[in-house]
Amino acid sequence: MKLLVTGGAGFIGSNFARYVLSEHAGDSVVVLDKLTYAGRRENLADVADNPRFEFVHGAIEDREVVDAALEGCDAIVNFAAESHVDRSIEDPDAFITTDVIGTHVLLEAARAAGVGRYLQVSTDEVYGSIEEGSFTEKSPIDPSSPYSASKAGGDMLVQAYFRTYGMPALICRASNNYGPFQYPEKLIPLCVLNALAGDKLPVYGDGMQVRNWLYVEDHCSGIDTVLRKGAEGDVYNIGGPDECPNIEVVNRIIELTGRDESLIDYVTDRPGHDRRYSLSSEKTMTLGWEAKTRFAEGLERTVAWYRENENWWAPIRSGDYLEYYQRQYGQSLA
Ligand code: NAD
Ligand code: TYD
Repeated sequence: MKLLVTGGAGFIGSNFARYVLSEHAGDSVVVLDKLTYAGRRENLADVADNPRFEFVHGAIEDREVVDAALEGCDAIVNFAAESHVDRSIEDPDAFITTDVIGTHVLLEAARAAGVGRYLQVSTDEVYGSIEEGSFTEKSPIDPSSPYSASKAGGDMLVQAYFRTYGMPALICRASNNYGPFQYPEKLIPLCVLNALAGDKLPVYGDGMQVRNWLYVEDHCSGIDTVLRKGAEGDVYNIGGPDECPNIEVVNRIIELTGRDESLIDYVTDRPGHDRRYSLSSEKTMTLGWEAKTRFAEGLERTVAWYRENENWWAPIRSGDYLEYYQRQYGQSLA
């Protein structure tokens, strides 16, 4: 199978490209990526010379570029998105362009080319917040942030293309990912790098918001399973094995980096902050998938990866990132 992996220079997409190339010797991968602040060629350095890999620089909202990249592909896996809630609160425009309009352009291109499979990589955040129990694929869509609303818009289009045009499309909704190559704006890599540098660890509100943590490799194997075995038109939840309040995540990072609690900095809460995410993945498990990495083990591996890969993150923690950090947290890094 030849796969078009859009957004494949980002965190999860680059892990997925690597996963497919190593797990499926007969497959090839074309990555199409706009290379925003979150997309980096360095994320794909170890597959760049693989003869089964190709990189195309371009945007999913650009139909000409998409048509060219799609030539000869059997399937599309769409990771391309603006993905950070705080940035969506600051400036939602790019979220609508990429997550809604970009998805629409991809669907139109897929329809014209008669692509055999279209997989939309979505998020549990489209369901909103849940106090008790877990979301299933039948739970109503109830997004809280411009980010989750834009992802919900993309999902709705995918569903409409299946119903209206018979597009062979599927949707995966995953919980919070963590692991190697994650951009340090998200809670875990931000706190790991800040802790290593002795910077403050910003905790929103009371720190008791709960997330359902999924190691990125488990997400990749889940997407791969759904891509190959899922039923057209269906939604599949891919949740992590463990839930954890943010403050506990931060405390574990403090332990793993040998720091102490004096680094914790309670800051103003995020507007519209979802209190808890929790996914039931029973349906995806019926396809033979399960999450293998428990949170304690995955977090240890993640901290070790950031410790060992300063050459990956050092260039990020400068320039535009410092401006973003200052705007977001009202303080600068050491
Ligand atoms: P990321 O921000 O690390 O990567 C996004 C990638 O998309 C980047 O390489 C960026 O350059 C690219 N991109 C952005 N706009 C583009 C455009 N218009 N055209 C082409 N490429 C574009 O995000 P991520 O964490 O890897 O998330 C990937 C996908 O998974 C997203 O769709 C996100 O909604 C979904 N998801 C993420 C998580 C998570 O915890 N990170 C959880 C569930 C679902
Ligand atoms: P994040 O990594 O942004 O993912 P999401 O908003 O998609 O769940 O945030 C995870 C949780 O951590 C969320 O409840 C917000 C919180 N958080 C902080 O407390 N401090 C931070 O600096 C960040 C980035 C997030």
